[in-house]
Amino acid sequence: MTISGKTRVCGVIGDPIEHSLSPIMQNAAFQALDLDYVYLAFKVKPSCVADAVNGIRALNFRGLNVTMPHKKSVMANLDRIDLSAQIIDSVNTILNKDNLLFGFNTDGVGAVRALKENGVALKGRKVVLLGAGGAARAIAYAVAKEADELAVLNRTAKDAQALARLVEKAANKRIVAASIEPEDIDANLQDSDILINATSVGMKPRIDETPVPIELLRSNLAVMDIVYNPLETKLAKDAKALGAKVVSGVEMLIYQGASSFEIWTGKSAPVEVMRKAALTHLEKKA
Ligand code: ATR
Repeated sequence: MTISGKTRVCGVIGDPIEHSLSPIMQNAAFQALDLDYVYLAFKVKPSCVADAVNGIRALNFRGLNVTMPHKKSVMANLDRIDLSAQIIDSVNTILNKDNLLFGFNTDGVGAVRALKENGVALKGRKVVLLGAGGAARAIAYAVAKEADELAVLNRTAKDAQALARLVEKAANKRIVAASIEPEDIDANLQDSDILINATSVGMKPRIDETPVPIELLRSNLAVMDIVYNPLETKLAKDAKALGAKVVSGVEMLIYQGASSFEIWTGKSAPVEVMRKAALTHLEKKA
């Protein structure tokens, strides 16, 4: 990679940011397509978010990804916000186009692309989504637009209800809300086709935990776990052992990054290159 006076700068802001996989994936993608872009990680404290966003304009960056805890707070300093990002009240991608800052959210689209590209169609399907946090919010809206039915289950049931009401209104579809107790999971999984875990259950160091007892899984239930640390969660292992289709959390990470790449460059993302870069890094760390 040769950095010159013409190199366009992209990056990610968050706090903490050291463990972000985005620089590895995005720089590999820029290099694969021989694009004169570079991608860096910036640790930005909550009190500096407005300065950081205004810095995109001041320094003429092409754009930024935004991660925890700034996905909501960046919105106040943008010029235009895409409708999906407005609905879920969260921006993870900023584009600087002629000094106007546009906000998008590629998390939900990334999850839907990850499912589709791995052979899991949403049209006509019933989906059970576990979680009602930031990631679940993005996924719920994107999935609700395409699937036939959606049930949102969360430990804090009132948050599941709030998310269900929000998405129901936005996607104009009835959304079921329930708790994450095994009885509720069982009842909702009975006639479902796809299960998505968007809780943090099973994440390192608690790798022996799963949000769904294995007895409730079936071979004809496609399972996506957005946890990618470990690379294969207990939920994914259990589902695989039963012969179910499993989509790894790395896939969502790759496709949200691919969608951001496409927003900045206007080119199709080299997904295979991004996957290889992310997996090589994660496998080295494991
Ligand atoms: P993210 O941005 O990754 O979505 P988050 O907004 O903190 O992170 O959301 C974490 C999700 O994991 C929430 O749905 C949370 O449930 P609560 O709303 O009840 O807190 C869920 N979660 C975290 N730890 C959990 C646990 N031990 N059991 C069940 N759900 C859990």
